[in-house]
Amino acid sequence: MNQTNVNQTATNATGGRTRLVIGNWKMHGNLADNAALLAALRPANPAARIAVCVPFPYLAQAAQALAGSTVTWGAQDVSAHSHGAYTGEVSAPMLKDFGCAWVLVGHSERRSMHGESDQLVADKAKAALAAGLTPVVCVGESLAERDAGQAIAVIQRQLAPVLALGAQSVCQMVIAYEPVWAIGTGRTATPEQAQEVHAAIRAALDGIGAGGIQILYGGSVKAANAASLFSMPDIDGALVGGAALVADEFLRIAA
Ligand code: 13P
Repeated sequence: MNQTNVNQTATNATGGRTRLVIGNWKMHGNLADNAALLAALRPANPAARIAVCVPFPYLAQAAQALAGSTVTWGAQDVSAHSHGAYTGEVSAPMLKDFGCAWVLVGHSERRSMHGESDQLVADKAKAALAAGLTPVVCVGESLAERDAGQAIAVIQRQLAPVLALGAQSVCQMVIAYEPVWAIGTGRTATPEQAQEVHAAIRAALDGIGAGGIQILYGGSVKAANAASLFSMPDIDGALVGGAALVADEFLRIAA
């Protein structure tokens, strides 16, 4: 990472992994609102390491507004290609040019609305790593899949091409478990439901020797439910949507 390292204090319950709270702004914001939000985050020194993933046009604004602070920034998607005739796409080296530390790959909104396959998500993670970015690989089951008892099998299927990149690569990633039914619905997974899946992800990571990486939970995380989620042994932080747009709420999640 080429941004200032954060004063890392909070760790998860048992693994000693640094707590990480990343805001995913999705397609929200404008120059004026972003300026106020970033200015409110800039002086913060929460217990968790914090980051924001902003829409592409605002990367330069985030880079400028957060320069020299402990808050790091990133993007919400990346091309699997490094350059070429891919109209509308943004490459990992371009994100690196802006000083990005992070990039989300495989968010469920991209998988469902843009037809991103498990293999494409792994290819994007690989491209991010090659440019020196940390990919945050998102996985999660739909409500129908959960109701069919398929949650863990779906996560394992989504992870398979990522794990196939090998331990050396996977050790440089972050995984985010975001059950689709909990995103933007106000219906958070219970800490126990989330922990069950996180433990399965940890086991899959352990299987290739990458069990030490951070696994974040996402889906209707708020200040009111963050502490109980973070008390679980395999939940190392959060990927936050709506609540990341309100500085005070976001910082209370990371407190
Ligand atoms: P919400 O926190 O708004 O449910 O969104 C979660 C999410 O999709 C973060 O990537």
